[in-house]
Amino acid sequence: MRAAQRGRFITLEGGEGTGKSTQVVRLGAWLGARGVGVVTTREPGGSPGAEMIRKLLVEGPAERWDGMTEALLHFAARRDHLRSTVWPALDRGTWVVSDRFADSTLAYQGHGHGVDRTVFDRLYAVAVGDFRPDLTLVLDLPIEVGLARAARRRGTETRYEGLPKDFHGRVRAGFLAIARDDPARCAVIDASADVDATAAAIARAVAGRLGV
Ligand SMILES: Nc1ncnc2c1ncn2[C@@H]1O[C@H](COP(=O)(O)OP(=O)(O)OP(=O)(O)O)[C@@H](O)[C@H]1O
Ligand SMILES: [Mg+2]
Repeated sequence: MRAAQRGRFITLEGGEGTGKSTQVVRLGAWLGARGVGVVTTREPGGSPGAEMIRKLLVEGPAERWDGMTEALLHFAARRDHLRSTVWPALDRGTWVVSDRFADSTLAYQGHGHGVDRTVFDRLYAVAVGDFRPDLTLVLDLPIEVGLARAARRRGTETRYEGLPKDFHGRVRAGFLAIARDDPARCAVIDASADVDATAAAIARAVAGRLGV
C-alpha cells in the first residue's frame, strides 16, 4: 500500500488582535470544504503538556519571566506540540493549521525582548530540527487597531497585551522583517479588512502557494 502523502503545515502569525484565532477557524473550514483533511491547533499549547506550559506564559504579570526564560518555555511547549499533535497528523496525511508558531518566539522574545537571533536559531535547531512550515501567513495591522480589538475580547490571557506600545511596535516590525527575509515561506496579509475579506485574502494565498 502506498504511504499517505504527507500533510502541509500552515502557520498564522502576527501581533495581538490581528485576527489569527478568527482566521485559523475560517481557513480550517475553507480547507475542509475542499476535501482537505485538516486539524487546527495553537501555540503555545496544542497538546496536553504544552497547554500546561501555556498557562505559565499567557497569565500573570508581564515581568514574571525574562525574555530568555520565555523563549525556553516556548520551545519546550513547541517540542511537545510537534511530537504529540503536529508531526503525527502530518504523517497521516492531515494538514495542520497552527495559530502561532516559532516566528512568534522570534518576534516577541527576539525583536520584542532582545533575545539574540543566534540563541533563537540554536533553540530552534535543538527543539525543532530541520522542520519548517510550508506556508506562514503574517497578519499585519497597525498595533493600535490590534490592541483595541484584543481589549474588546474578555479573558485572563492578557499578559502580553499589558506590555508597552514600543514593545508591540518592535513585534510588528519583527514579523515584517521575518516575512521579508523568507519570502518563499511567508506571505503578508493585510488584516485591517473585515473578517470575510481577510479570509478571502488568506484563501487566495493558500491556493496560490500550495495549489489547493
Ligand atoms: N477583520 C476583523 N475586523 C474586526 N474585528 C475582528 C477582525 N478579526 C477579528 N476580529 C475581532 O478582534 C478580536 C481579536 O481577534 P482574534 O482573537 O482572532 O485575534 P488574535 O490575533 O487571535 O489575537 P491574540 O493575539 O490576542 O490571540 C476578536 O474579538 C475578533 O472577533
Ligand atoms: Mg488568538
